[in-house]
Amino acid sequence: MKDKLNAVKSAAIEKIQSAASTAELNELRVQYLGKKSELQGLLKQMGGLSPEERPVMGQLVNSARAKIENVLEKALADIKNKEREIALQKEKIDVTMNGKAAPIGSRHPLSLVTEEVENIFLGMGFQIATGPEVELDYYNFEALNIPKGHPARDSQDTFYISENVVLRSQTSPVQIRVMEETPPPIRIISPGRVYRSDAVDATHSPLFHQIEGLVVDKGMTMADLKGILLEFAKRLYGEDTRIRLRPHHFPFTEPSAEIDVSCFACKGEGCPICKGEGWIEILGAGMVHPRVLKNGGIDPDVYSGFAFGVGVERLAMFKYAVDDMRLFYENDVRFLNQF
Ligand code: DAH
Repeated sequence: MKDKLNAVKSAAIEKIQSAASTAELNELRVQYLGKKSELQGLLKQMGGLSPEERPVMGQLVNSARAKIENVLEKALADIKNKEREIALQKEKIDVTMNGKAAPIGSRHPLSLVTEEVENIFLGMGFQIATGPEVELDYYNFEALNIPKGHPARDSQDTFYISENVVLRSQTSPVQIRVMEETPPPIRIISPGRVYRSDAVDATHSPLFHQIEGLVVDKGMTMADLKGILLEFAKRLYGEDTRIRLRPHHFPFTEPSAEIDVSCFACKGEGCPICKGEGWIEILGAGMVHPRVLKNGGIDPDVYSGFAFGVGVERLAMFKYAVDDMRLFYENDVRFLNQF
């Protein structure tokens, strides 16, 4: 019986120590320590032993059982540790691995051009002013010397919110708002959205962008206007750029001019971009009308000034050779990614 017990014990220990999973160990526990185990069988056979032998054998069985339990618990703990290590290994994250790059956007060409113009004028001592897009008829028209019934109103097909409130059709109303609040000298530009009731096509949109400029000081002349705008054109299109002033009419300036720059593509030779002209019209400008100065609260006998207005889409279309304005608003990433 003793031999049998030893054989069972060593078999159990050997199997337990070579078990590879907790499931296997649980099976071995049932096999060697359960109700139908060989140890249990040996205990049952003890009835046939002498009264002296019985306690001795009982103790041997119990100590074999304790030994097996001990080895089993230890094996179980070892395997659990191993299994956890394997699980951790599987879940391990390599923080040094390259990530997937998320696509990043790009600056909108209209923003790029606006910022470039802003930087040029900031560099010449101008400040940036803003005004409301929903504007009083007074600022958008009346104060700019365009009374009700004036034909100039027809050329700017205006969205009316009510009889006296419009979506501004130009950035020029900011001139009046700035003059009302700022004593001269004034040197501002004002970029922003403007609205006109135009049908959409390659060169028209009901919403577009302008940048307004205003300078008011003592003794300002047309020569100052020309000097500033020539410098602007050179910084925008290159040092060899020339400008020319053509007489024009705007109600809020007198005299008024349209300003062309020499074509930056052909340097004035004539090419498809300038339609063979050698010149590209980019600005409206002029000396601020005395009545407009007065409406801004400035004495035209003491001060004079000049103003200009430029279309941002137009600048961007020439700069980036874009032939359809609608591309600026469709936000197709294949277009936008090129800037
Ligand atoms: N506001 C004019 C327009 O929308 C552009 C303009 C022309 C602005 C001459 C000016 C200016 O300040 O002096 O067509």
